[in-house]
Amino acid sequence: MKMKNNLSALLLAFVLNSYGCSKKADPPPAPVPPVQDTTTLKGVSPFFVGAAIDVSLLQNNTLYRNILLQQESSITTENTLKWPSVHPSENVFDFSGGDYIASFCSSNHKRMHGHCLVWYQSNPAWLNNFSGDSLAWENLFKTHIQTVVSHYKGEATSWDVVNEAFHDEDGSLRVNDKNTSDNFDDGCIWARHLGRDYIARAFIYAHQADSSALLFYNDYGQEWSDKKTDSIIAMVNDFKARHISINGLGIQMHTNINQSKDGIINAFKKLAATGLLIHISELDISVNTSNDPLLVFTGALAQQQANTYAFIATQYKLLVPPAQQYGITTWNVTDKDSWIRTYLNHNDWPLLFNDSYARKPAFYSYRTALMQ
Ligand code: G3I
Repeated sequence: MKMKNNLSALLLAFVLNSYGCSKKADPPPAPVPPVQDTTTLKGVSPFFVGAAIDVSLLQNNTLYRNILLQQESSITTENTLKWPSVHPSENVFDFSGGDYIASFCSSNHKRMHGHCLVWYQSNPAWLNNFSGDSLAWENLFKTHIQTVVSHYKGEATSWDVVNEAFHDEDGSLRVNDKNTSDNFDDGCIWARHLGRDYIARAFIYAHQADSSALLFYNDYGQEWSDKKTDSIIAMVNDFKARHISINGLGIQMHTNINQSKDGIINAFKKLAATGLLIHISELDISVNTSNDPLLVFTGALAQQQANTYAFIATQYKLLVPPAQQYGITTWNVTDKDSWIRTYLNHNDWPLLFNDSYARKPAFYSYRTALMQ
């Protein structure tokens, strides 16, 4: 019996050995290096891809800076060249932040897009309180535009010359505040002090300062306000008739996962028909459409957002002729840097990178759409 047991043990050992299951472990396999996904947005995109940036993050945050270096070919100055930063008091211009961005762009082969010379919002208190006759206002306006544009001549490829000049609901020119019931003035000091033709003069002054800079009119909501889109197109036609230099239109696209697809298609088609360059200039896609402070960013929401990023990139490629594709710019880099968190204080995840600087599903679907 004992001998029979020994025999069975021997037989078992033989069988196990011959199937590679011996107790004596095989040498461990050589470690496989993790597959590096080195395919970048700028590497696959047929047009410029970019982000608006916060200059202090660019200066102080290596993870942020590395994403810009690796992924983007175009940089927009989010707040750095707005009046409060670049023109903090009547006789003072501060180019420190803008110069840092310009030098980052030129050393790293990025296109620099300046934002924005004239806007009804974000004007410093000294400007809102400025008292002078119409000549003094005109002089202030012209001096600002020409000082800033001349300073970045040869560095900034393009400018948002005028931002958001038309009302949302009816596409009328912003002049006086429409919403008297809130504390927010959606009228425009420029139209009030300089007259309704101030937009044309802003483009003329910018062109005088740098005739090689590409000049854009930039606005939001064209995907849901047909009236605004029509006003923008009427302005372009008027400029063409008067031989006023305008090179492009920015469609900001601060949008969300529920935005009607037809609205996006309609806006791209109408804007492209102007023949001007078309820049998706401030893209972000909100998922918290009801601003629920307790909303959780689920996988399903991430996927819906990813699909929307892909849809927008695909339609842009399809509906805007290649020669007019100025590019797509997201409005900042990671969710935590977005104005939707920092300015609106909403619980949201609108961008391509998460709070830890990691790629989100939106990054991958956007990249695939750019590539196809
Ligand atoms: O830099 C100051 C800081 O020194 C200060 O301590 C802090 C306290 O409030 O404010 C900081 O400035 C803020 C700045 O964002 C930087 O965070 C301003 O108050 C705030 O008004 C500013 O908000 C910007 C907003 O425009 C108004 O200018 C957002 O970041 C910016 O993303 C947003 O961008 C606009 C586009 O220019 C035009 N299209 C719409 C888009 C979203 O509103």
